[in-house]
Parts: sequence; structure tokens; C-alpha cells
Amino acid sequence: MIRLMQKADLGTVVSIENLVQSHPWTSKQFEESIESYQSTVIEQQGEVVGFCILQPVLDEANLLLMAIHPGHQGKGLGFKLLDQSMTLLKNNPIQIFLEVRESNLSAIALYEKSGFHQIDLRRNYYSTAAGQREHAIIMVKSCSDDFSQLFKS
Ligand SMILES: CC(C)(COP(=O)(O)OP(=O)(O)OC[C@H]1O[C@@H](n2cnc3c(N)ncnc32)[C@H](O)[C@@H]1OP(=O)(O)O)[C@@H](O)C(=O)NCCC(=O)NCCS
Repeated sequence: MIRLMQKADLGTVVSIENLVQSHPWTSKQFEESIESYQSTVIEQQGEVVGFCILQPVLDEANLLLMAIHPGHQGKGLGFKLLDQSMTLLKNNPIQIFLEVRESNLSAIALYEKSGFHQIDLRRNYYSTAAGQREHAIIMVKSCSDDFSQLFKS
């Protein structure tokens, strides 16, 4: 089940974030994301196991952050969460943008499967846990095909 994130989810969400990110968001950032963005969670047997934060901006959107608990990865949940979260966006975006570490091959594969493709590279954009730098890959998904399907129905 996928639903909007609530304040009661913050503890679980932050614990997942701390498990998977070298530079994790704080509880305060997640709390602000509930107010300012479209923040969703995915549940398995009543337990939150992942989250997705999308920022609508005019007629576009940015995917800011997503994660699935390591114990639940590789089961299709990330794909389902992202897919359904994008369809929940109320501003019907024309395009959705994201930035991802070039070393994050599993996320890049997920995004490609979800219809994103690389449009640019930000050199040395991220710092790594080892104190070095790595590039950010900028990807975009055009939603116009989805809209043309809508207009046909
Ligand atoms: C990236 C992430 C969200 C994927 O979630 P997931 O539930 O494991 O992904 P899914 O099982 O839905 O897999 C969907 C697709 O992603 C890709 N993928 C997922 N895990 C992968 C892996 N370990 N290696 C390669 N590709 C992978 C595949 O294309 C897969 O499709 P397939 O099963 O048809 O091959 C998850 O690995 C995660 O939380 N990572 C840590 C946080 C992170 O990097 N977030 C993204 C940047 S903010």
C-alpha cells in the first residue's frame, strides 16, 4: 500500500534513510517535506518500508529522494513506489527531473526502467563518504506520452 507520509512515520523514515544514505536527511528535513512536497511511503504488512519525495514545481517536478529498507530491496517495491507516486502528483507535470550519484547503479537502473534518461552531468557535485567527489547524473522523464494516452481515453 502506498499513501502520503505522516508525522507519525518520521521515526521509521529517518531510520531507513540512515541505513541507506552516506549523507542522510534529518528528521526536520523530512518533516518539512511533508508540508512542502509530495511525500509518500510504501507499507508491507502494515510496516513502512520505503519513501519517495517529489517536489512539484509549476508544470514540472523533481524527484528529491527515495529509498527502500535494505531488507525489502530487490522485490519490485522501489519501482512500484516511484511509479505510483508519480501518478499521484496533482500538478500533472510535463517532465520530472532527478539527480543521482553516478556510482548508484541500482538507482540508475530503476530510473531507466521507470522511463528516465540521462540529459546531463554535474561534475564533482557530491561528496563521498571517503571525503572525495563524484559526479551527479541528471535524468529526466517526459510525461507527454502518458498524457497522450490520457487524452485518448
Ligand atoms: C534504488 C532503490 C530505491 C531501488 O529499490 P528496490 O525496491 O530495490 O528496486 P526494485 O526491486 O523495484 O527494482 C526495480 C529496478 O531497479 C533496478 N535495480 C534494483 N536493484 C538493483 C541492483 N541491486 N542492481 C541493479 N539494478 C537494480 C532494476 O532495473 C530493477 O528492475 P528489474 O527487477 O526488472 O531488474 C533501493 O536500492 C534503495 O533504497 N537504495 C538506497 C537509497 C538510494 O540509493 N535511493 C536513490 C537515490 S536518492
